Amino acid sequence: MAVTLIIGAQWGDEGKGKIIDYLSKTSNFVVRYHGGNNAGHTIVNEYGKFAMHLIPSGIFSKKTVGIIANGTVLDLDVLLEEIKLLEKAGVVVKERLLISPRCHVIMPYHRILDRLFEEAKGKAKTGTTGRGIGPVYADKVSYNGIRLFDLLDKRKFSEKLTIQLTVKNKIIQALGEKPLDQKEIEMKFFALIEKIKPYVKEPYSIIQLAIKNKKNIMLEGAQGVFLDTDWGTYPYATASTVVSGGATPGAGIAPKNITDIIGVVKAYTTRVGDGPFPTELLDKDGELLREKGGEYGATTGRPRRCGWFDSELIRFASQINGFTSLAITKLDIFDGFSELKICTGYTLNGKKINYFDIDALDLEKVKPVYKSMKGWTKQTQGAKRYQDLPKEAKAYLKELEKLSGVKIAYISTGQKRHEIITI
Ligand code: GDP
Ligand code: IMO
Ligand code: MG
Repeated sequence: MAVTLIIGAQWGDEGKGKIIDYLSKTSNFVVRYHGGNNAGHTIVNEYGKFAMHLIPSGIFSKKTVGIIANGTVLDLDVLLEEIKLLEKAGVVVKERLLISPRCHVIMPYHRILDRLFEEAKGKAKTGTTGRGIGPVYADKVSYNGIRLFDLLDKRKFSEKLTIQLTVKNKIIQALGEKPLDQKEIEMKFFALIEKIKPYVKEPYSIIQLAIKNKKNIMLEGAQGVFLDTDWGTYPYATASTVVSGGATPGAGIAPKNITDIIGVVKAYTTRVGDGPFPTELLDKDGELLREKGGEYGATTGRPRRCGWFDSELIRFASQINGFTSLAITKLDIFDGFSELKICTGYTLNGKKINYFDIDALDLEKVKPVYKSMKGWTKQTQGAKRYQDLPKEAKAYLKELEKLSGVKIAYISTGQKRHEIITI
């Protein structure tokens, strides 16, 4: 029995989807518990290629039930679209997906407010995915949210919507936009909830029973540690708790029940959106990583910023999340690189400095200290056995392990499910 928590250890897009799709073959339940459709988890398996935004990445394993737990925020259009897409590809979703009625719903004004705040910030924008994530979580914690519970009761929904539109329409109009029409929203959402209803059932008791009966549960983290509201590079962050502690309120599980915490880490670093990125490469190595690695957002299609592996970040991520092991992804992208660099730490004004001691603005100014490593010409792409890796790749991995302070349990060498080495 295991309750395995999967956490992105960088700025998101580490390859969580790939790792979860691979590991969930023995999971009875896979649970999304925070974030929303700002996430894009790519999966390449026998059904095809998918970018999962809301439905748990484990849905492809026939024995697995997908759960969208209370901490997740829902765009109902996106959810329905995703169900349709999966069914078209031959994945049975009916009776294999459960959604908590506690989930907050992204309303049309959340997406508008997301855009209006970004426009107002100008050059200082966060570079959000524009999915309304910040505003929906802001409403959640300020008692202004609308949940699936509300949508299941038409009168309650209408009353809550009236209150929200009283305030939101004033803001929207003051900024020169057209006010939203209550009736139009009601019609749309009443139609949507009818289609979602068959999946809505609080999964709490099912999860608790699964723990009692020693079933395997996988908790699917979204985003990455350095986008965490508290511990990420705020305000260049996302609006949910990404670090492992967020899984317990988000999924309704006690901390003591979590048995494994796997940090998913790219062999290099990427970031999409604005904010500090000490090891960013603005040269041809950066371009090469982007092109070879296909580093374009799975959600927005934006080019991802690329840079060297940063062990200062991974050491911190390992500590704050309590990683029990690491899964390294995209090792194959380095095939053919003659030299690789690893950031071992930072200096600021000539003095050694830790990530956690400084603000995002100061992180812009730190100087990474690099250790140079020899690259390899032999192919690692598709490798399935550790002994088949070139000695330089093994040395690179050993160094990542040493600097991170956590053992590597998986090495992913390609997009496809079975392109992976288990140690
Ligand atoms: P997630 O959000 O953490 O699930 O990651 P994304 O799906 O947004 O981005 C990871 C990208 O890398 C996707 O295109 C994956 O198909 C791809 N990927 C994952 N692991 C590997 C790997 O080991 N090698 C290669 N070449 N691609 C990988
Ligand atoms: P997955 O789960 C990468 C980033 C956005 C932006 C910041 C805030 O696929 O790893 P938001 O829309 O959340 O308010 O945007 O967070 N961001 C991600 N970056 N991967 C993600 O998810 C992300 N989700 C949000 O680019 O910088
Ligand atoms: Mg992604």
